[in-house]
Amino acid sequence: MDKYVIHGEIPLKGTVAISGAKNSSLPLMAASLLTDEPVILHNVPDLMDIRTMIALLTYLGKKVTIEDTHTLRIEEVSSQSYEAPYDIVRKMRASIAVLGPLLGRRGRARVSFPGGCTIGPRPVDLHIRGMKALGAEIVIEEGYINATCPKLKGTSMNLLGSFGPSVLGTENVMMAAVLAEGTTVIEGAACEPEVADLAQCLNKMGAKISGAGTSVITIEGVERLHGVEYTTIPDRIEAGTFIAAAGITGGEITLTNTCVAHLAEPIEVFSKAGVEIEILSHTTLVARGKTIRPVEVETKPYPFFPTDLQAQLMAMVTLADGISIISEKIFPDRFLHAAELCRMGADIHVDGAVAVVKGVPRLSGASIMASDLRAGAGLVLAGLAAKGKTEVLRIYHIDRGYEHFEEKLRALGADIQRRPQEE
Ligand code: EPZ
Repeated sequence: MDKYVIHGEIPLKGTVAISGAKNSSLPLMAASLLTDEPVILHNVPDLMDIRTMIALLTYLGKKVTIEDTHTLRIEEVSSQSYEAPYDIVRKMRASIAVLGPLLGRRGRARVSFPGGCTIGPRPVDLHIRGMKALGAEIVIEEGYINATCPKLKGTSMNLLGSFGPSVLGTENVMMAAVLAEGTTVIEGAACEPEVADLAQCLNKMGAKISGAGTSVITIEGVERLHGVEYTTIPDRIEAGTFIAAAGITGGEITLTNTCVAHLAEPIEVFSKAGVEIEILSHTTLVARGKTIRPVEVETKPYPFFPTDLQAQLMAMVTLADGISIISEKIFPDRFLHAAELCRMGADIHVDGAVAVVKGVPRLSGASIMASDLRAGAGLVLAGLAAKGKTEVLRIYHIDRGYEHFEEKLRALGADIQRRPQEE
């Protein structure tokens, strides 16, 4: 197990190229199960979660070749298997995204019930609701979701849950519906760019999907899908993380290879929080940390402020000249990073799904622990701004979702090293 050793108070300066989106690449990889022809994906980030999905696809009869780091070639060897085993799913909840494609094309799926994680219980009732609506018989036993249906039938459904739409739930049902008989209408669909990216790729494979990116998606079932060569969108959460890095260190970072259109709300919020953001083109922006002002923010489904940037924003506003209020409307328990930030001298009071952050003049370095990949990123940002040495433990969480994170930060001038945790 590794840790980061960071010496702070260095304003980050330079240019960083944003990697492909993890949360787009994972469902796109799962979509390869919908065809027996080759699927080639470009701009796939080099991450632990991608390697876990490669292992799962291999288990399910695909041959996956990594070409020049960021291109995956996925070819079918056999289509007999339909099981996603516990020891893979427990490493990555997004494995649930194979449920829809397996059911849609192989007529059955046995997927381990994904456990919860530190950001919340992570139920999958909306996924199951959608599969049942399409005609699947679902039996939950021995910790597995057993789904069978020789041929799914299109229908209308509402996938809204008590915390709003489900991103993976929408993607799972969309993938199940593309080969169903007849038309499916999903109301209460997630509007995230990653959902639209998946729909665009599926349409290139021969699917007939309209409305993706809005809350009503229509899928006209087709006989089969053919292979595809496709490039994933940039990672908007990595981009937001580097905007926050400029803000918290008082530096100046140029972000390239990003998609400014997917960052409207983060740009709005980080600008209010004092980051000067200059848009140079639709793929390039400059973030300058000028001052840090308090903000009041609620995390909500896209296009509003994403829950995956909540920890990074919180880290930054611990140094604001006033009191910030952050309400977590997606994962109400997603505040484990607050206590770690308080170990560095932050003044944060968490009451249920609301964190009140009273700005302090300075953070001081400490040993702190990552609890999920975005919390880990937020703690690294705090270490970059803090006086003295910070050690961030359990950075395997960060390795799941940030490509070459310490290398990218070092190229911007950060003093950050990866070390064995026991050192
Ligand atoms: C996706 O997870 C992302 N992961 C998450 O990013 C992200 O935090 C989340 O969407 C919200 O934006 C991937 O895309 C791989 P949800 P997902 O279903 O789809 C509740 C990261 O950091 N819910 O949209 O699993 C759920 O508990 C990860 O990269 C149900 O109630 O999240 C939550 O409160 C972390 N029943 C809300 O809906 C369900 O069946 C939104 O969850 C499913 C979800």
